[in-house]
Amino acid sequence: MAKIEIIKGDITTLAVDAIVNAANNTLLGGGGVDGAIHRAAGPDLVAECATLGGCETGDAKITKGYKLPACHVIHTVGPVWHGGHKGEPELLRRAYRSCFAVAHTNSVKSIAFPAISAGVYGYPMEEACSVAMDEAKAALEHYPELEKIVFVTFSDGALAIYQRQFKTLFP
Ligand code: APR
Repeated sequence: MAKIEIIKGDITTLAVDAIVNAANNTLLGGGGVDGAIHRAAGPDLVAECATLGGCETGDAKITKGYKLPACHVIHTVGPVWHGGHKGEPELLRRAYRSCFAVAHTNSVKSIAFPAISAGVYGYPMEEACSVAMDEAKAALEHYPELEKIVFVTFSDGALAIYQRQFKTLFP
């Protein structure tokens, strides 16, 4: 059975097969975790991203990790929160599912996720976390080759939310 880990830390330090980037539709970098990943990976990352033609919200694209300890970066674009009635939950689900599908086709066995959309894009952490947990549970059933899923939180508040929801979903 694959292991789900929940940590508080900087996703750019993780030596996993792939870290997931909460990017924007241009894939050309930004702030938050996107900025941190590009800073740590070095300029070759944005150079490769520039060849990908952007990324639709809910879609995911893979690149090398360059100077990161992770072999790959899976870039996805989560929805901007507009109150929850403009398809945001479905779009966030799709973003997680796309990342797992891209991981599968690239033989990624260990994958780390930030809290997609829960920063600049304003998605409430509780709701974003419950989508993340649901999709991780489904992915473990769908992709038996998955060995490790790491949820990387960036604050004590987010850590507590992830830990509480994990206990409920995986009693
Ligand atoms: N490691 C792990 N998590 C991080 C890190 C990091 N180094 N830096 C930030 N985070 C956390 C944030 O605290 C938040 O909980 O990642 C989560 C996602 O926040 P954002 O990075 O703001 O991503 P998002 O809300 O999806 O907004 C995406 O922000 O940076 C721009 O280009 C990006 O336009 C896009 C938008």
